[in-house]
Order: sequence, then C-alpha cells, then structure tokens
Amino acid sequence: MKNNPLPRLDDNPDLRERLLPYCRLKPGEIWDDPKGRHRVGCIDASDSQQVSDLVKDAQPTLAIHDPPYNLVAFDLRSIDEFIEWCQKWIRNTTMVTASNASLYVWLGADQTDGFQPLPDFMIMMRAEPYKARSFITMRNQRGYGTQKNWMAVRQELLYYTRGQPVFNVDAEYTDIPKILRGYYKEVNGRKTENFERSRSDNIRAGNVWVDIQQVFYRMAENVSGCYAQKPLKCIERIISASSRPDDVVVDFFAHSGATLIASEKLGRRCITTDIDPIYSEICIRRLEQYRKCGREGWQNGHPFEMEIPSFVDSKDEEPTDSAEVTSQNLLF
Ligand SMILES: C[S@@+](CC[C@H](N)C(=O)[O-])C[C@H]1O[C@@H](n2cnc3c(N)ncnc32)[C@H](O)[C@@H]1O
Repeated sequence: MKNNPLPRLDDNPDLRERLLPYCRLKPGEIWDDPKGRHRVGCIDASDSQQVSDLVKDAQPTLAIHDPPYNLVAFDLRSIDEFIEWCQKWIRNTTMVTASNASLYVWLGADQTDGFQPLPDFMIMMRAEPYKARSFITMRNQRGYGTQKNWMAVRQELLYYTRGQPVFNVDAEYTDIPKILRGYYKEVNGRKTENFERSRSDNIRAGNVWVDIQQVFYRMAENVSGCYAQKPLKCIERIISASSRPDDVVVDFFAHSGATLIASEKLGRRCITTDIDPIYSEICIRRLEQYRKCGREGWQNGHPFEMEIPSFVDSKDEEPTDSAEVTSQNLLF
C-alpha cells in the first residue's frame, strides 16, 4: 500500500512555498461552490469587513469555531491579547448570525500553564449576548502528561445560545447500548423501569463524549498535513443537534474542513474560512474529492498528490507514520 502523507505544514516553510502556487485563493478571496451550497474564504476571522463580505446575508443559525489555542500554530500571545483577539471574532459571529443561533467553541485549558485560555475566555463571554448552556468534554484516546500528573485526555467544547435556536435531542444518542436496568420511577401510579421510559435503547452522549475516536493516520477521514483535525463524528453530532436541513453553518477556522464535509454530508450549507491559503485549498479539495468518490480524507496520500506525487523525492528524510501520529496530539 502506498504511504505518501503530507508532512506537517506549520513547521515546514519550504513545503509551504511549494504548495502556495497550487492554492486558488489569495488572502482576502472567497470561493463560491459551483453547486451553490457552500462558501470557503481565505479571510481573517477577526476582521469584521472581511467576515461580512464572506457571510453576506446568509444568516447562519449555527457557528462552530475551533481557534488556535494560543499554544501552537500561533505566535504565542499574552493571554490578554489572545482574549482580545477572541472577542473580535466572537463579535463578528454575533454580527453575521441569525437572532436565534447556537455557538460552539472548542478551546483548550493548558494544565501546564494555569489552565489558560479556557477560564479567561469563559469570563470574557459573560459580557457577550449569549447564554452559556453547556460545557462539553470530549475524551481523546491519546493525551499529554508526565508520570507526575494526570494525563490530559480532555478536549473542551463550550455551547452557547442566543435567542431560541433549535435543539434536536435525538441527535444526542450514541451507538452505545444501555446496559443498566433498575432506575425505577412511578408514572401514573405504576412503577416503571428506565428502559420503558426512555426514547432509545442507546445512551445519550450528555456533556461527556467518550464515544468518538480521535483522528489518526489510519482513518479514512485523515487529512495529512493538518495538525488539529476534529473527527467528523463530533461535528456531525453538533450539526444534527443544533441545525435543520439547509440551515447555514459557519466555521471561522476551517483547517481540514471538518465542518464543511459534515455540512455536505448532512445537507446543510457551510460558510467557512481559514487565514492560511493552504488550508482553504485543502478544504475545497476535500469537498471536491468527497463529491467525486465519497472519500472523506486521504488516509495514505494527500490533497496535492496530483501536483506533487511524492514528498520523499526532494527531501532527504522520509515522512513517517509517527510524524502523523504525533501531529494530531499537539493541540491537546
Ligand atoms: C485548531 S485549527 C481548526 C481545526 C478544524 N476544526 C479542523 O477540524 O480541521 C485552527 C485553524 O485556524 C486558522 N486560523 C488562525 N488564525 C486565524 C484567523 N485570524 N482567521 C481565520 N483562520 C485562522 C489556522 O490557520 C488553523 O488552520
């Protein structure tokens, strides 16, 4: 089997130079889906004019944002500067979304550095026009830690709403069957057991998601070169719970295009952007490939294999599987 992944892009300036000529968007530009469903930009999420040019009058009812966490993939900023930057794209979200809208934000808490930036972000959000609804934890299979501390395997996801957006509870059910009997309750004078009272034989995800596999290089949805890809399953769960078919979903930090692909799969329209033209291009290519052959990523190859069949030729070192494995760890 061929194994030709794209090495990590964020620490490979030469590779970036080679890929940029193949990117159809320059900073500030927008790609309109020829099928009229989606839009992908190469714009800065903190720039209100650019965001308004991107979203136009689409009125998204759901925003799913996964910004860099001030740790990697970002010039390290002071926490105050980082939160000030977050406030800008949150306000841009408020500016372009419908009056009844849901907002989900993935944000890390670095246990080696005062748990920043999660608590600072939560406090900043108290002054914004949202109601805090849930603090979801997604469990990673891999994590970071030492022998002297609990290993960090959690990813934090904040759920906020404005107005009265949809919430479809059926989307919350997992594939995990219920096994525990015996939660009795009297209903209309009759003692009932939890199985007969429930809507499903499976358990609800609740706000601790343990049933989602972190993306790694052997998965069909893997997009090599991306270092912070979210699993499609968690994005599909959010979209199914907090939007209706044909609704517009916005994501300001596209990267591998997980929200774009999940929206396409679920019949939603997606408006997304990445400040980096290479990731904007990867998203568009991922959508094109999905439409062409139903593949969700590049398990062994990469999005630019037409132009650059192998990265091994021009480099002395061979891209390794372990580089791919560790690349997904770094934000967590
Ligand atoms: C954590 S990743 C998002 C991962 C994404 N959810 C996925 O599943 O692939 C953050 C992305 O935000 C992009 N980014 C950083 N600053 C940005 C800005 N000001 N505007 C738009 N995108 C930005 C980075 O280039 C990076 O690709």
